[in-house]
Amino acid sequence: MTTTVLITGAAGNMGRMLRPLLRRSDRTLRLFDIAGITDLDPTEEYIQGSVTDRAAVARAVEGVDAIVHLGGLSTEDSWENILAVNVDGTQAIFDAAVTHGVTRVVYASSNHAVGFWTHDESDGMLAGDVAPRPDGFYGWSKAAGEALARLYHDRFGIDVVNLRIGSSFDRPPNYRGLASWMSPADTARLIEASLSDSAKGFHIVWGISANTRAWWSGAEGETIGYVPQDNSEIFADEFLRDHEWTFDDPILQRAGGAFCDHPLGQRM
Ligand SMILES: NC(=O)c1ccc[n+]([C@@H]2O[C@H](COP(=O)([O-])OP(=O)(O)OC[C@H]3O[C@@H](n4cnc5c(N)ncnc54)[C@H](O)[C@@H]3O)[C@@H](O)[C@H]2O)c1
Repeated sequence: MTTTVLITGAAGNMGRMLRPLLRRSDRTLRLFDIAGITDLDPTEEYIQGSVTDRAAVARAVEGVDAIVHLGGLSTEDSWENILAVNVDGTQAIFDAAVTHGVTRVVYASSNHAVGFWTHDESDGMLAGDVAPRPDGFYGWSKAAGEALARLYHDRFGIDVVNLRIGSSFDRPPNYRGLASWMSPADTARLIEASLSDSAKGFHIVWGISANTRAWWSGAEGETIGYVPQDNSEIFADEFLRDHEWTFDDPILQRAGGAFCDHPLGQRM
């Protein structure tokens, strides 16, 4: 039986990486984004629209089996924009899931929902589901999204996996990424685990690879069957040419890195 998975924000960095890796002969990927997508595979459908437009969201959600909600603002922005896109937009997705009987949502949360947790407080491995400590309006919106997810799980029984994503890019964006990186292949593994039967219920997990320098726990990910296979250490020589690896460095000490010092509400 063919299943349909909606990916919001499919035109973005993660959407571009994930689309070829999530393709299956028995799966249709329905892509939704405010931005245009032209390179469609035969197994893909595309609906252009904004998560702030409830009619467009209804068209996107109707008939799908699961939602991978990546769409929205992915860094710090004004309070008004963050509320409209990341909070109202995420509520629109959950609301449409209930209306259209979708039972699984994978929500792209962020390390910035918990950015003020420190390495010193972590006992070496910070649990995946530590309480929110957002490091800006963006991180706050991700914590709000996790709380919305909890509401829709408890009230309507929607199965949700909240992914506290570290740095999901082709390669670590900087030296902090030696701890926080999640490779494209591991990102796809995490999404597949999140869509599987072992991820029924409500979960909050870290989204990182099996990095030697990681201090965010993989235990919660293991409970849904996520087994990362990549390790950022292959980039260590390159990144540590200019930086010492020390938790005296606030960028490494705090889960949210440089976001903790970025002016609130100021676009990056
Ligand atoms: N990449 C990472 O390392 C990382 C880390 C933590 C969290 N995340 C989260 O994962 C998700 C994907 O990240 P990314 O790196 O691909 O970000 P991105 O900014 O590259 O992509 C976001 C996509 O959302 C779309 N979008 C923006 N506003 C929209 C709207 N109103 N309606 C519909 N679509 C809209 C954009 O056009 C874009 O294609 C985001 O929610 C981000 O906050 C990513």
